[in-house]
Parts: sequence; structure tokens; C-alpha cells
Amino acid sequence: PVVRRTDYRPPAWLVPDIALDFDLDPATTRVAARLEVRRNGGHDAPLRLDGAGQTPLAVRVDGQAINDWRIEGEDLVVPLGGDAHVVETEVEIEPDRNTQLMGLYASGGNLCTQCEAEGFRRITFFPDRPDILSRYVVRLSADKSRFPVLLANGDPVASGDLPGGRHWAEWRDPFPKPSYLFALVAGDLAVNRGTFTTRSGREVQLGIWVRAADLPRTDHALHALKLSMAWDERVYGREYDLDVFNIVAVDDFNFGAMENKGLNIFNSRYILADPDTATDYDYDGIAAVVAHEYFHNWSGNRVTCRDWFQLSLKEGFTVYRDQGFSADQGSAAVKRIEDVRGLRAAQFPEDAGPLAHPVRPDEYLEISNFYTATIYNKGAELIRMMATILGPQAFRAATDLYFDRFDGTAATCEDFVLCMEEASGRDLSQFRRWYSQAGTPRIAASIEHQPGGGRATLRLGQHVPATPGQPEKQPMVIPLRLRLFGAETGRPLTDEQLVLLDQPAETIVFEAITERPVLSINRGFSAPVIVESDRSAADLAFLSAHDDDPFARYEAMQQLMLDTMVAGAIEGVADHRPVVSAVLNTLEDAELDYAFMAEVMLLPAESFVGDQLAVVDPEAVHRAREALRRAIGRGLLDSWRHLYDVLQQGPYAYTPEAKGKRRLRGVALGYIAAAGDPEAGALAFRQFEAADNMTDRQSAMTVLANGDFAEREAALDIFYNRYSDNGLVLDKWFQTQALSTRGDTAAVVETLAAHPDFTLANPNRARSLIGAFGANQRAFHAADGRGYRFLADQLIALDRLNPQTAAKLLPPLGRWRRFDEHRGTQMRAELERIVATPGLSKDLFEQASKSLEG
Ligand code: ARG
Ligand code: ZN
Repeated sequence: PVVRRTDYRPPAWLVPDIALDFDLDPATTRVAARLEVRRNGGHDAPLRLDGAGQTPLAVRVDGQAINDWRIEGEDLVVPLGGDAHVVETEVEIEPDRNTQLMGLYASGGNLCTQCEAEGFRRITFFPDRPDILSRYVVRLSADKSRFPVLLANGDPVASGDLPGGRHWAEWRDPFPKPSYLFALVAGDLAVNRGTFTTRSGREVQLGIWVRAADLPRTDHALHALKLSMAWDERVYGREYDLDVFNIVAVDDFNFGAMENKGLNIFNSRYILADPDTATDYDYDGIAAVVAHEYFHNWSGNRVTCRDWFQLSLKEGFTVYRDQGFSADQGSAAVKRIEDVRGLRAAQFPEDAGPLAHPVRPDEYLEISNFYTATIYNKGAELIRMMATILGPQAFRAATDLYFDRFDGTAATCEDFVLCMEEASGRDLSQFRRWYSQAGTPRIAASIEHQPGGGRATLRLGQHVPATPGQPEKQPMVIPLRLRLFGAETGRPLTDEQLVLLDQPAETIVFEAITERPVLSINRGFSAPVIVESDRSAADLAFLSAHDDDPFARYEAMQQLMLDTMVAGAIEGVADHRPVVSAVLNTLEDAELDYAFMAEVMLLPAESFVGDQLAVVDPEAVHRAREALRRAIGRGLLDSWRHLYDVLQQGPYAYTPEAKGKRRLRGVALGYIAAAGDPEAGALAFRQFEAADNMTDRQSAMTVLANGDFAEREAALDIFYNRYSDNGLVLDKWFQTQALSTRGDTAAVVETLAAHPDFTLANPNRARSLIGAFGANQRAFHAADGRGYRFLADQLIALDRLNPQTAAKLLPPLGRWRRFDEHRGTQMRAELERIVATPGLSKDLFEQASKSLEG
């Protein structure tokens, strides 16, 4: 049954208070729920509670057992006269058999929950929708030796022992919350404790809970939490509101983490880190996700979503907030580059394919399928554009107004935009199309200069491509930061301007432009659009050296590299010299920091090059990219060797400077290998063995894994043996091989799927092999179609265990329109095989069937 945004109706019954009593056991857990229900408005509808699979053992109304309840579909329907009642139910659930990892489940011998979006109904009967806010009192009881720690939302109230080796604890959350924010954890856990004193003097007890053996890997997460709490006070005026804030790490988790009130539950990969097992990239990811979940306490929990069509209200805004946090920890320019790279790798293809949907979707079959790059990352870009249009002061006034006005309520995207308008006096009516129209706008930009007259004319045009269900589009409001530079002198010819392009085509005239202007546009990536300009290789090289906006410098270099590889893929040859000399300019620029240099000199991924072609030819893209890599490697080999040597560091430190050096040294090693330097294998292997940190070890292993080096197998074996007891590091071992650019990767991945350490039951492991393989354009699109068959086989198997994670891994198969007839036919055949599988989940069905249509 399709759910439609326009079908929203306020709930018939409210549940201001709920008391839950859990008799916990991995095999059979008994859940008793006591709901205080109140009729909402004048109607005579019965009380309808969502459930999933369970049958109630008992139903009582106002203390009396009743038997006129019924199950309709999966709902429990209780006929009720009057306006206020106490409804009690008892159910049994089986955490041990919960392989979907939604609701109450077991992970590593502990019990934990995941309720967003619709997991609470798998725990107890309840109106499981985000606009029902309840105060929760939760009592947990369990075997004391197996589950010495009992946690739930809010503050601890009391605890004690029970006969038979059991014990109990009670928790109370004073803040009314929707059911998707409910959480409990029972387990054998150790804690890293800290405190944070809020600006008004509340002392908050912080705890990071993990297996005892993992305790030494929790300091970074705890530190990031304290930084996040301080940052949200300083930047958004948001203070924490309970006496405790707990985070629990679990190994089996469907996504990154979950912002349950006062009790965040995390995928352990976003908590655990030490230099020997986590890369700099992992460290950054941990800080970002800890911040993200913490920031949800205001953008998500205190103000939640009215319905799931409003998901980006909390997710887009919270991603924007965590991006701001991360930008403030180190280089803002590098952070912006990373975010845009991520947007282009995941969201642009989504927006251009069969699963394209607006930031505020209109309908869904399974809401879990809408936790997408569009909702999260494009959603964050929408907030960023509004912040740009309003300016910092008005934007802050608008978020203050939003938090103040909607505190304690379930709000909509429209409410947020209204606050932006009210606080700034701006009219955002046309801007709202960003919420309703899918597809990445394409901006055409060309500039004409009359040498004598000094007049420059900039012509801008916009076009939003058709997407499934949206054949016609209206023009959007596109905020474009731009500036002109003089081609001869390199000087800026204008100030930076913010142009709000809101027509299909516009012309902007600049007077007194005394030399030929070079256009710097969409600076800082001010809008999530594709700019098509006719700038020459020389102009792009010029901007990559002279633009004063770091993002624009990166962007010019990327465009130059992209144009070169596209030419190479189409024509078989390309002129590599402009790229090589632009890279040399970057290498010689003493003012640039290491991390930024590394970002600028890295080639765009094969899949992004493929995205630029009318029909993707994966082998041609691979050849063109390798050819350019070789040219950069060979042409500048002395510089790479020199850089590699001078960037050698003393003992490991996690500082922006040391991180930048590691990153740049990794790039240098990659180019030395690309040059075909006969010593490259030995050099990489030496780094692999000598490294005192995972960043250097992994970057060396990646270089070896992508090539034909004699040291390749040895490095992979050493790595495997050294880390075979650490699941998160083993994931890297699988992932590095699945991402390999070698020609035999499809076959290797099939073998790895039969490796004793491979399992579909753990989502991280499944993603490390199958997800990485789907992202490997060359290997996945092997012409014989084995990659397609492999992915379909794996998804069908995974769907029986964990539909959500299976559905998340499907999109690479849906890109059949982008490939030649031969590949496209094979991809469609696999999608059809998936759709025809008996007993398919609606998660996978929705993704596969939409992928066939769109
Ligand atoms: N709200 C969580 C976060 O963004 C993610 C929950 C994902 N839920 C899902 N059904 N995919 O931090
Ligand atoms: Zn989130």
C-alpha cells in the first residue's frame, strides 16, 4: 500500500503517557505496556495500534480484561467509548530471531533496540507515528550476570535485585517523545565516563558504553561529544536538557547511528578508534556522527517530524549542522570539498536515476528506503542555500525562532521555511520548489567580452531535467556566488557577488572590465547544481592557480581533469599536459596546506567520470583515468618522490597538520605507483610494514591491492592475520579488495563471498564487500554480467535476513539506462529476477520495481 503525503490526518487518539515493563530474555522477552490514551477531536473511531507480527497475550481497558479487541492486518483495534482510558497490553517477542535489526534484537550477546522509523511496533502495540508524543517510564528486568547493565531513555530512577539472579532498573524520560526515539540496552558493558557542564550550570554525566575490550578505543568519541555539546551552545544557542547522556556501541547495526533521547545507539564503527585500527578518515567520521546524533537532540528530538515525508526537516538540517561542526574542527575548505565529493558520488546519481525523489517526497511504499542521500545531503544543501540567502545573522534568528516556536512539537518542512521567511523578511515562495522538485538543475554559463568597450556579458540559463513522475519542471532559485578574474593579470576584476538566478535565462552585465575575464562561478558550491560552462583548459588551469576561493580552485582542477578524462574515454587519447602542469603549479604553491593540496591533486573517481558520458563505457573510463594517472605520475615523478620523503613523520599524532601530511604522502605514493616506478611495490610494502597507524598502513595496502606488485599477496595476508579478531578492520580488508581497480576484481569478490569471515548477517560486513563492489564501476560492470548476477544473488539472500540493508545495496543495478544495450539488458534481467522472487520484502520490491520502470 502506497503512503501519500497528502493523506496526512491528525491522529484519532493521543497517548500522553506510557509505562513499559520489559522482562528481558534473548529467546523470549515479555513486554507489558500501559498506555494512557485520549481521544483527539470529535469522532467515534476505535483505538488503532500498530503491531508487527505479535499477538497480544492480554488486553485490558481501565483495569478490566476485554475480549472485543481484534487484529486487522497487523493492527490491534480496541473499540472504546468515552474520551480517556488506560489501555494495557502484553506481548512476547523473540530478540534472538530478529535478523532485520529493527525493534528489539541481540548483538554480540547484548540486547538493544532500533525503532526509527517503524521499529517500535515490533516491540509493542502502539500508534507508531512521529506526531504522537508521550512521556515514557520504562522498567527493565533481566538476568544480572548476563546483563549487568540496563539502560533506557532519560534519567535513571531506581534499581534493585530480584530473586533468581535477576535485577531491575527504572528509567524516566521527562520529555514527551515519539516512539521512534525509544531505546533500551541490556548487556555486559564497560563505560568510559565524562562530564559536561552546560552554560547554565547543569552537570551532565556522559557515558560511552562498549565491550570491556573496546574501552581503550572510546576516548576520541567522548572527546568529540564534549566538543559537540560546546559547539551547539556557541553556534546555535542549544543546551543539553537531561542529567545523563549515554552512547552505546553495537556491532550489528543497519546504518550509522541513532539519536534516541539520552541514549544514542551507534554502529561501533562510528565509536571505536585507536591509531592502530582506525584511519584519519574513520576518526573524522566518528566525530561527525557523534556530533550529528548529539545535534538531533534539538533538531529531531525537541522538535520532531510530523510525518515521515518531513524526514529532511530533521536530517537535512542536522547534516548541515554536523558539517558546520566538522568545518570548525580543521580546514573548512577541505570539509566542503569532501562533502561535495560525497554529494556527487551518491546524490547526483540518485537524482539522475530511477529512484530520484524530492527532498520532501510525495509517496513511499517503505519509508526505510527514503533514508537517502537526497533527504540527508541534498536536504543539507537546501538549508545551506537558505543560510546563504539570509546571511548569518538572519539565519541564526530564524533557527532560534524555529526551535522556540516548535519546541515539544512535531513540525513540517514548511514550518521551517516559514521561520526563515519570518525572521528575515524574505520571500522564499519560489525557493520552496527545492523541496518539491527532484533532479539536479543544470546551469549553463558563458561570458562574452567586448575588448574595446570593457563590457562583459554573462549569460546564465537553468534547466531541471525530468525525473520519474515529474516530466515538467519550474525554474528554481539558484544562489550562485561568482567573481571575475583577469586572464592577463590574474587580478580579481569584481567583488564576489551573490546572484539569485530565478528565471530560465538571465543576462548580467559588468562594465569597465578592462581585460578578458575568467569566470569563477558556484564558489564554495553555493548551490547543488551542475555548471556547464565553455571555459577552456587554459582558463581552468588559470583558476586552479589563482582563484581566491579554495573550493573554486579545487573545482577548476576537477573540471580540467574531468574534461581530460572524458576526452580520453571518447577519443582514446587526450592531451594530458594542461593537467600535469596545473598539478605542478599546485605542488609548488607554498601557501597551500597539505590536506588541501591532496584533495586538489586527486583524480575524480571512475564513476564520476562515467556520469559525464552519454553512455558509460567502464573500460574506456578506466583506461582514460589510468592514462592520466600515469602521465601525472611520470611527468612529476621527481616531485612525488621528493614529497614522499619530506612528508615522512615522527610518531603518530592526530592533528590537522599530521593528518594533512599523511594524506598528501598517500597521494604521492599513489602517483609513484601510477608512474610504474619499479621501486613502487617495495616502497609501499615498506610503508605498510613500518606504519605506526592505520592511515599509512591502509593507504599502502590500497596501492598494493590495486596493482600487480610482487608484494601484493603478502600485504593482504599480513593484514588479515594481524587483524583477524577485529571485525571493523577485517571490513577494511574486504572493502579494499572489493574496490580494487584490477581486472580480476569481480572474480576475487565472488571468492571472498565464500570466505569463512564473510557473513550477510552483519551489515558492516555485507556493505564492506557487496556495497563496495557495487560502487566499483569497472568491476561491477564487467561485460560478461557476472557482477550483476552476483549482486542479485547476494541481495536475494540478504533480503531474507535483513530487507533494509538489502534494499540499500540495490541502486547500482538500477542504473541500466546509463549503459550500453548489452549491459543494460543483463541488468534489467537481474532486476526482473529479483522482483519475481517469492516472499520478497517490500523494501527490496520497491527499489527493484522502481528501478525497472524509471
Ligand atoms: N536518524 C538516524 C540518523 O540519521 C538514522 C536512522 C535511519 N533509519 C532507517 N530506517 N534507515 O542519525
Ligand atoms: Zn540523522
